[in-house]
Amino acid sequence: MDEKDISQAVIGRLPRYFRYLGELKYEGVERISSQELSEVMKVTASQIRQDFNNFGGFGQQGYGYNVEYLYQEIGKILGLDKKHNLIIIGAGNLGQALANYMNFERRGFIMKGLFDSNPELHGKQVRDIIVQPMDHIMEFVKENEIDIAVLTIPKTSAVEVAEHLVQNGIRAIWNFAHVDLNVPEGIQVENVHLSDSLMKLSYNINRYDTEHKK
Ligand code: NAI
Repeated sequence: MDEKDISQAVIGRLPRYFRYLGELKYEGVERISSQELSEVMKVTASQIRQDFNNFGGFGQQGYGYNVEYLYQEIGKILGLDKKHNLIIIGAGNLGQALANYMNFERRGFIMKGLFDSNPELHGKQVRDIIVQPMDHIMEFVKENEIDIAVLTIPKTSAVEVAEHLVQNGIRAIWNFAHVDLNVPEGIQVENVHLSDSLMKLSYNINRYDTEHKK
């Protein structure tokens, strides 16, 4: 199957496979069957086989998967074998929290810069990153080969700022602002809404309560 035909649902499950395989690798597990993986991950073995078949299967049936190989291959599919340089736009609560989170770097996402329109924040240091004014972006993006921008600004200015970023060479936006961005084709956007996850949790609480009503 051509990779462009693979559903977003399958792609959406790959990071979880990658995470579990990373843990198995860390524990020294060398081979794992789809059945064993299914027990660890609490998804069906047939779902795992179906997902992996989109990419050629990754291993012989019956013999199990080579954990290291599978981890590397899924990492490659996710583009994690390459480094990505990031900037964060909006050095408020969320922007600073993300800038402080070191673990992205383990996956090859390197936080290079932090930008904000508020002059009071300019020069502030977050981890080893100094908050800079917005008019430094163009030069910074070029000099540091930035491909991803993280948007942690209010929705009122996000659309305009995203356009500005794209004009300055940004190829992908990790968007935390609660608004749909209007970007040209070829620019990748991933919207993150933590409240969606919270609403799912709320739904599951309600469903459990309804099902267990005496
Ligand atoms: P905050 O008010 O602490 O930080 C926002 C920062 O953006 C401020 O430092 C401000 O000066 C800066 N800013 C505003 N307009 C700008 C512009 N045009 N260019 C550059 N910088 C600009 O807010 P917080 O708590 O960090 O949240 C940031 C945004 O993220 C909010 O819009 C909030 O709704 C959203 N958010 C989204 C979440 C999600 O799950 N998607 C979770 C939490 C917040």
